[in-house]
Amino acid sequence: MSTRERRPTRAGFAPLWLAAAGLAAAGCDDLRECDPPDPERQAELPAALSQTGLYADIAAGTVASDVVAYAPGFELWSDGAEKHRFIRLPNGAQIDTSAQDAWQFPDGTRLWKEFRRDGVLVETRLLAKVGPAPEDWAAVAYVWNADGTDALATPGGAEDARGTPHDVPAAAECMGCHGGTESRVLGFSAIQLAASPGAVDLDEIAARGMLSHPPRRPIGLPGDAVAQAALGWLHANCSHCHNRTRPSSDGARCYDPQRRFDFTLRVDEIASVESTATYRTAVGTVIRPGDPDDSDAVERARRRDPDWPSMPPLGTEIVDQDGLAALRAWIRRL
Ligand code: HEC
Ligand code: HEC
Repeated sequence: MSTRERRPTRAGFAPLWLAAAGLAAAGCDDLRECDPPDPERQAELPAALSQTGLYADIAAGTVASDVVAYAPGFELWSDGAEKHRFIRLPNGAQIDTSAQDAWQFPDGTRLWKEFRRDGVLVETRLLAKVGPAPEDWAAVAYVWNADGTDALATPGGAEDARGTPHDVPAAAECMGCHGGTESRVLGFSAIQLAASPGAVDLDEIAARGMLSHPPRRPIGLPGDAVAQAALGWLHANCSHCHNRTRPSSDGARCYDPQRRFDFTLRVDEIASVESTATYRTAVGTVIRPGDPDDSDAVERARRRDPDWPSMPPLGTEIVDQDGLAALRAWIRRL
């Protein structure tokens, strides 16, 4: 089910919470609108998943030999969907990792993320680098057919896809999250791969020669398990929108909250919990030390309600109870 239709955002129909936050008056009623994706870039995307290079044999589920499966250390919560992720670089090409927190992927790179909900194979998303500039990405979701033999590009998205409660985002919405960072790729990064639970972690990716500048020292998150769980959860679920390095855009606001605080974990800012952007910008603003129930970050994440601006504002309809518990536990101890 979708909550989108019940949230009119056009001038004159601004919901109460926008008015209450003073945002409607400031002319920010297009917060939830995104520009349509660039047609020339989107034209580079094949119509069927079988044509994207992910599979050697799609019906058998055999992934192509030049495709690498990986998992990020901290997952985006997608209402309990089971997800699998893959990357393919053009032959011999490397990721430009000279800026360790803003990896730039070579033209021709493809990344996929597959979603299963309640055991049903629902969709596979594709991010494709279709040019040399940082913004040259095309993105779309492919919705699977009933017998699992192929999936078709669905730029308009789909509600309750394949008989599950899972909504497939429209292509315009992809950049609401992915457009929030210089890299555009969110889970295949130094921080996320260093914490990867799988065999294909940062060291393995470096050993395969995929990085122009392999990390010189091990990358570890600061603090104990409680702090790491909370910082990692905020990074994976909130930082793509809430960060101070978001690329600016001339168009619609498209979920840009405009940089008041920053939940990003960066390689150069993890010497201690206190040196993280989350601690420096959110503790004392939306995180009240010792008091999770009086913290805006918790208040926004603890419910899903069409009349309340819950966080994240898209991609979820069920509260992430484990993530929320991790956040509360850390705040209680601060
Ligand atoms: C609510 C924010 C959000 C939206 C909307 C969203 N994504 Fe993502 N996506 C993420 C995050 C965060 C990750 C990394 C964490 C993970 O994989 O669990 C990710 C991962 C991916 C990946 C793996 C590569 C990477 O960036 O880590 C692909 C491919 C992808 N998304 C494609 C898409 C496409 C295509 C759409 C639109 C149809 C889309 N996404 C919409 C947040 C989002
Ligand atoms: C898809 C982008 C997006 C994601 C992901 C997202 N937010 Fe937001 N957030 C916004 C936007 C846009 C606003 C401003 C509009 C509003 O207040 O609802 C906002 C506002 C907020 C506010 C109030 C603003 C303020 O300055 O006090 C808090 C607190 C917040 N978000 C916390 C979170 C937390 C915690 C997460 C992760 C669980 C999260 N957000 C994930 C886009 C996002």
